[in-house]
Amino acid sequence: MENIVLTGFMGTGKTAIGRELSNMLRWRLIDVDEEIVKTKKMSINEIFSRFGEPAFRDIETATIREIASQKHVIISTGGGAVLRRENMDILKQNGVIVNLSATPDTIITRTSGNNERPLLQVENPSQRIKELLEVRRSFYEKADIMIDTESKTPHQIAEEILESIGWKR
Ligand code: S3P
Repeated sequence: MENIVLTGFMGTGKTAIGRELSNMLRWRLIDVDEEIVKTKKMSINEIFSRFGEPAFRDIETATIREIASQKHVIISTGGGAVLRRENMDILKQNGVIVNLSATPDTIITRTSGNNERPLLQVENPSQRIKELLEVRRSFYEKADIMIDTESKTPHQIAEEILESIGWKR
């Protein structure tokens, strides 16, 4: 197994925990959304508003395909990447899939005040979060390792991930 792939809903700490793992293992962190923004020279919001979600999902898959062939990297995926089986099949070839979870209340708190997530630009973001979590639950649960992030620091979570993989240092 060559890579660690972080999946999970928006606001579950994929980026913070990815950074922590990256420091601990000295593996590069690659954030799929950041790669998309860099290569398309557009924000995620802009891609959604100009081309729509299906086009974003195609770009996401193409980006994942490019990234996944690398070795010894931490890959942080966008919260919806799990929805396409193809994405997960590609990522599984070289990596262990870790899912980060948090309660709806934690997610609501962590994502509030951030307007960079197009799916939450609705009148009632809390309701939207709960609906999306419900629809996505079974997709997140397909991960190799499930980690509850509630009331833990990024460092503790990163340690827990390494222990679960069997890389306790
Ligand atoms: C999305 C999550 C976002 C980003 C896009 C869609 C989703 O990433 O990919 O806004 O469908 O949950 P984060 O999970 O990093 O916020």
